[in-house]
Amino acid sequence: MHRRLIAPGALAASLLLAIPASAASSSPGAPGIGDPYYPAYGNGGYDVSHYDLRLTYQPRTDELEGTATLLATTTQDLSRFDLDFLLDVSEVRVNGAKASFATSGQHELEITPAKPLPKGTPVTVVVRYSGVPSTKSAYGFSTWHRTPDGAVAADEPEAAWWWYPSNDHPLDKATYDVSVAVPDGTQAISNGTLQSTSSRLGWTRYNWRSNKPQATYLTTLAVGKFDITTSTSEGGVPVVNAYSKDLGDNDGAARASVERTGELVDWLSGYFGPYPFSSAGGYVPNTTTGYALETQTRVYYSPKQFANGSNTSVVVHELAHQWYGDDVSLKGWKDIWINEGFARYAQWLWSEHEGEGTAQELADYVYTSHPADDAFWTVEPGDPGPDDQFDIAVYDRGALAVQALRNEIGDDAFFAVLKGWPKKHAYGNASVDDFRKYAEQVSGKPLAALFDTWLFQPSKPAVSAARGVSLARGEGVPARPKSWKRIAATDSVHGR
Ligand code: TRP
Ligand code: ZN
Repeated sequence: MHRRLIAPGALAASLLLAIPASAASSSPGAPGIGDPYYPAYGNGGYDVSHYDLRLTYQPRTDELEGTATLLATTTQDLSRFDLDFLLDVSEVRVNGAKASFATSGQHELEITPAKPLPKGTPVTVVVRYSGVPSTKSAYGFSTWHRTPDGAVAADEPEAAWWWYPSNDHPLDKATYDVSVAVPDGTQAISNGTLQSTSSRLGWTRYNWRSNKPQATYLTTLAVGKFDITTSTSEGGVPVVNAYSKDLGDNDGAARASVERTGELVDWLSGYFGPYPFSSAGGYVPNTTTGYALETQTRVYYSPKQFANGSNTSVVVHELAHQWYGDDVSLKGWKDIWINEGFARYAQWLWSEHEGEGTAQELADYVYTSHPADDAFWTVEPGDPGPDDQFDIAVYDRGALAVQALRNEIGDDAFFAVLKGWPKKHAYGNASVDDFRKYAEQVSGKPLAALFDTWLFQPSKPAVSAARGVSLARGEGVPARPKSWKRIAATDSVHGR
């Protein structure tokens, strides 16, 4: 050590170092990551870089068991930290040593390592667990979906608690290896590429790898009897799709839509830049709810999306999210407009491409079909609040705001922003405010007033306020009842 002058305070500090550092200063990690919409979601004190899930699932009984190994780094001196989880834990090890654990709150697994963990050090957490996910709930609900031949984990903003322990917030993205053993004849689908399968003792194990940062809610699992198709897009993106063998009448329309994934990924690349992941695709299990979800690289589609025939629009929507939502994730759930406004706008661009109405015509339609007293206008897409996070207004008002931006800054700047944004924040997180600043920088125009008018007002903007709308038409369409409720929705959201 170098000899130097020691100030009295420094001497005191160096004496403190004789005591185990952590005993003096370590504290528990926060039980939430600090998102005002969902205060208990995610956790504080560490950052996960990789999840390794090695699981076994029995569809007959809905029993899930296995081991999760998390690679993390501490962001503070930690005496204790939480994971978000609902299944039954039998053992936890931290850096190889047994740790004690307890449950608290709605979905907290509190882990106390044998020794406190100093800030900035790598930590390996091993959690052994089992349970019947369909018997667990938090806040009175469950997002685990059983099907006649298996189960599906795909939901937003929360899906992980029912199948793996995590730091459940998009701010903490990580890579994943998901390995699931299922009875022979059954398939397990997850994100990324299928590295291998192996079979023994009546069980087949599927090893999936998603090698780019991925938010916890975008990590998906489907078990069931699937037909898996593989191909490569013209642009070179490998595509893996999976269809339940039990889709009945919807089978043809599902395949006629989802098999166009490669074509649509390439088409979207023209607007958003190179596809950010090493694999693309979707799966259609035999679920009964109406949703689709942008699960990273492997989109979840409810069969209901295809009940009226092919639906390339929903495929475009979910694939657009691969750039807007998955590659660039939101910083907080209030930033949902960046996900849904742009995914909806991509559907408008597709409509224009297909000759079914231009983006401007669809914007005009949204504007004129909701009279000023429609509750639609009370939802601020820029900060809708947790109850209205997925209200139709976040989608349609949200895309209308995108059109207003386009009209304000002109096509050259607009399409430069559309393509530049995923590049600027690749594999990261960003907010609505970050987006405004970026659009201002690219266009050279101040945009605070435009954003305020179209995203942050609980009322219908006047046509003169900004150029979101090209024509003021008659307001003849009756008010729509407020439609988004947790279970009810995406049928109308993604109508063909
Ligand atoms: N993000 C989804 C989409 O736009 C919609 C969605 C919101 C959703 N909450 C959900 C889907 C819960 C499934 C479950 O496509
Ligand atoms: Zn969406």
